[in-house]
Amino acid sequence: MKVALVFGTRPEAIKMAPIVKELEKRNIEPLVIVTAQHREMLDQKLEVFNITPQYDLDIMQHDQDLFYVTTAVLNEIKPVLLKEKPDILLVQGDTTTTFAASLAAYYFKIPVGHVEAGLRTWNKMNPYPEEINRQLTSRIAEFHFAPTGWARNNLLAEGIHPEKIFVTGNTVIDALLVIVDPNYHFTEAPLNKIDFVSHRVLLLTSHRRENFGEPMAQIFSACRHLVEHNNDVELVYPVHPNPNVQKKANEILSGVPRVHLIEPMEYRPFVQLMNKAYLILTDSGGVQEEAPSLGKPVLVLRKTTERPEAIEAGTGKLVGTDKETIITVAQKLLSDRQAYLDMATKTNPYGDGKSARRIVDIILEKVR
Ligand code: UD1
Ligand code: UDP
Repeated sequence: MKVALVFGTRPEAIKMAPIVKELEKRNIEPLVIVTAQHREMLDQKLEVFNITPQYDLDIMQHDQDLFYVTTAVLNEIKPVLLKEKPDILLVQGDTTTTFAASLAAYYFKIPVGHVEAGLRTWNKMNPYPEEINRQLTSRIAEFHFAPTGWARNNLLAEGIHPEKIFVTGNTVIDALLVIVDPNYHFTEAPLNKIDFVSHRVLLLTSHRRENFGEPMAQIFSACRHLVEHNNDVELVYPVHPNPNVQKKANEILSGVPRVHLIEPMEYRPFVQLMNKAYLILTDSGGVQEEAPSLGKPVLVLRKTTERPEAIEAGTGKLVGTDKETIITVAQKLLSDRQAYLDMATKTNPYGDGKSARRIVDIILEKVR
């Protein structure tokens, strides 16, 4: 059997890696095709998980737009699929790589397996364009690997046949549990200079397209305020390489004492940083899923979330992008120990670290 996996960005690589490893364990050679929608951030993850792609479409361009990414993936993947004719093609999540690779597979009548299926906000503009990437991928996919029962119900409500939906947990937890290392020590400045005992670290990640411009300005100003008004607080922000993000982050946060703007981090040290942080502020999907496993409260810097489970479980709060609201909610967690502990001691709704095993079991049983 030939199982192709197509991915292109940082989060897809992290979440597909456990499936690649599980296929190898079962002696099924995975056909790994990377679009390289991301370049450096993808390569970092391929290295940490020791994955060598059979095909690298190498599409990334500086400040690329959605038209470019969609058409480049379609054009570059066509000859690969024509030659390899896989029995199934796996995609993950909600990126433009995910949607365009699914469409290409459909044009060749290759069945698509969608990993992390069924997440929804039902708001086309938020997250943009990820909500529509997800919905279109669901229309195409033959096998839907839903991380939770909530995601399964969303797919059922859209008329997907129950026998095509499998609740597997999220593979991000498989990756996290392999990588987490309590004995890891930071070797490079500024992280090796931070005293995580006497100082409390706010970890920020922010990159969403719908937050470009004013929402990001509000987020960054709120973070700056929190550092300036709490002497024991430091902010660490591994800045996403998207030029729209870099520009605003530098304008508002550069040069502020106890604010550390750093490069995107490799996965192992990043997980350790989440583990040592006091509080995480993020608009990332993956980080929302990982933080509860490490007992870290998360403030979600978005108006909507397609991951309501963590909010319902009490490990996360949807705070939006308004400066004053972010400051009020974060300050409460900095000042009120009980409010903090109420969020930090809940269990993770997203998985148990065995998702890849379940997905590969299903592929072996159903794909012939
Ligand atoms: C993409 C996904 C988003 C996902 C995010 C994860 C789409 C439309 N967006 O957003 O869903 O949450 O990845 O991080 O699929 N760049 C580099 N080096 C890199 C990566 C990016 O320089 O390794 C820069 C390039 O200038 C590139 C730009 O960032 O053109 C934007 O990259 P792109 O993949 O189009 O969008 P992201 O904002 O990263
Ligand atoms: N991550 C990382 N280094 C960083 C920031 C994030 O390895 O500097 C990891 C994080 O642990 C998570 C994933 O990248 O698994 C999330 O990716 P991102 O936020 O880019 O995308 P999203 O999940 O929002 O699509």
